[in-house]
Amino acid sequence: MKNMSPWWIRIPFFFFLIFALVEYFIDSGEKPAFLTYPIIQLFMLMVLLILIAIELIVKSVENVLFQTLSEEAKERYLSTQAKSWEWKWAKRTYKNLLGSKPIEEENEIIIDHNYDGIKELDNKLPPWWVYLFYATILFGVIYLARFHVFNDYDQDLEYEMEVAEAQAAIEEYRKTAKDLVDVNSVIMLTDASDLQAGEAIFETNCVVCHMADGGGGIGPNLTDEYWISGGGIKNVFKTISEGGRDGKGMIAWKQTLKPAEMAQVASYLLTFQGKEAANPKAAEGDIWVDENAPVKIETDTVAATINE
Ligand code: HEC
Repeated sequence: MKNMSPWWIRIPFFFFLIFALVEYFIDSGEKPAFLTYPIIQLFMLMVLLILIAIELIVKSVENVLFQTLSEEAKERYLSTQAKSWEWKWAKRTYKNLLGSKPIEEENEIIIDHNYDGIKELDNKLPPWWVYLFYATILFGVIYLARFHVFNDYDQDLEYEMEVAEAQAAIEEYRKTAKDLVDVNSVIMLTDASDLQAGEAIFETNCVVCHMADGGGGIGPNLTDEYWISGGGIKNVFKTISEGGRDGKGMIAWKQTLKPAEMAQVASYLLTFQGKEAANPKAAEGDIWVDENAPVKIETDTVAATINE
């Protein structure tokens, strides 16, 4: 049997055919199946190895059969192989795309004028060039229709879409990279694991001055609603990161703690709010009100209004 296609077309062809079938038949949601189920990568590797094995087996069978041929038949076989199909195919395509006449046939296209022996050939435009030219025309027509007739989108919109996409990607990344939090993006953590981590950090670094229950010692009381440098997660994060007022003893912890750890300890110490400390230090600073908090209806006033 004569093979009509070279191995470097056959193997990729069957490989991607099987791959496409796998992707088509295995339902894997939004992600491609080979990412959702890594076992498929192993499967495709096996497929590749099997395809290579088949090629090798066919080759060696051919080889064995070749040895059984008579000398004369061998010679004939080799001569057909030498001009093997793949090579001819590549050469033919190349020539067709170039579209030039071989030198021996040039007299067919010579133009009937000459100047001092300089002659001109009536060569056709090379097909590769012509096809490319047609392609640009087609592109131009589609482009014109899409962007100038149907006004698909303009550069401004494209820019905005890309920025929005990038923003979403950054948000997504921030979620996985907790250490990217800063004073602007920090939020109150509520996961038990984060609060436990915060407690551990507080116990190793902060209790000497703030006491285990936050009642205060060298440092101020953290259980009351009075804050020297502002309450709420953002201010507290900032104080921990940058330190307190100069010379008061509260250092900038950003040298020691990672951003994620500062967010954890800040969230943890805010759980002291409203709790009774064993030995509370007198309040320092001002009552801090969160300007961004949702408006709270004072229950007394409501009750008073109803009573009236
Ligand atoms: C060496 C003692 C010391 C240690 C250790 C210490 N602090 Fe402080 N902390 C202080 C002092 C003193 C202040 C008051 C700073 C000021 O007056 O500006 C303070 C202030 C604060 C405030 C602001 C309180 C307010 O009313 O605004 C927070 C929040 C705080 N500390 C958290 C921590 C955390 C978290 C740690 C551990 C990572 C820690 N501190 C470790 C001494 C300390």
